[in-house]
Amino acid sequence: MKEVKILDKTFRLYKNEEEIATSISTIANSINSDYEGKSPLFLGVLNGCFLFAADLMKKVNLSCEISFVKVASYKGMKSTGEVNQLIGLDRSLEGRDVIIVEDIVDTGNTIETIVDLLKKAGCNSIKIATFLLKPEAYNKDIPVDYVAMEIPNAFVVGYGLDYDGFGRNLNELFVLKD
Ligand code: IMP
Repeated sequence: MKEVKILDKTFRLYKNEEEIATSISTIANSINSDYEGKSPLFLGVLNGCFLFAADLMKKVNLSCEISFVKVASYKGMKSTGEVNQLIGLDRSLEGRDVIIVEDIVDTGNTIETIVDLLKKAGCNSIKIATFLLKPEAYNKDIPVDYVAMEIPNAFVVGYGLDYDGFGRNLNELFVLKD
C-alpha cells in the first residue's frame, strides 16, 4: 500500500485520482442540473479548496463566476470575543445564487461562520459544495448540499488538504496511519 511521510507522520493512500475524479463528476452533474438557466457564483474558501475548486469548475457547464475568500478571525477592539470576517471578496453578492466551495466540513464551525457572514450580503440563495464531509463530526443543522465524499472521523491530507501546511500538492487523498 502506497504511503507518504509528511513531517513526523505517515499517511497511507485512501482515495486515488480516479475515485476523486468520479466523485467530483457526480456532484458537478447535480449542480449542472440544479442550476440550469441560472448563473451561480462559486465562492472558494482558501487555502484548502484550490484543487477541488479547479477540478469541479472544469466539469461545470453553466454560465458562472468563481471568486475566492479566506476567513480571518481577530479579537474585537472592545469585546474579548472573536470576530470573523471574509477577506478577498471582490464583488457584490446581492441577489446572487452563491455556492460555497470547501475542502472539508468537519465539525461545521467554519462553514457555519461563512454562511452567517454571507447571510448579511443579500444573496438570493446559499448552498455548500464540499470535497469531503465527516458526518460523525458534523454537529450543525445547516444542510451540506453537495458532498463529493463522506469519510470517517480520521485525519486526511492531500488534494488541497494539509498537515501543518504540507501535503496540499498531493494529487491523491491519504489518511493518517495508526
Ligand atoms: P470545521 O470548522 O471543524 O468544519 O473544520 C474545517 C477545517 O478544519 C477545514 O477547513 C480544515 O482546514 C481543517 N480540517 C478538518 N479536518 C481535517 C483533516 O482531516 N485534514 C486536514 N484538515 C482538516
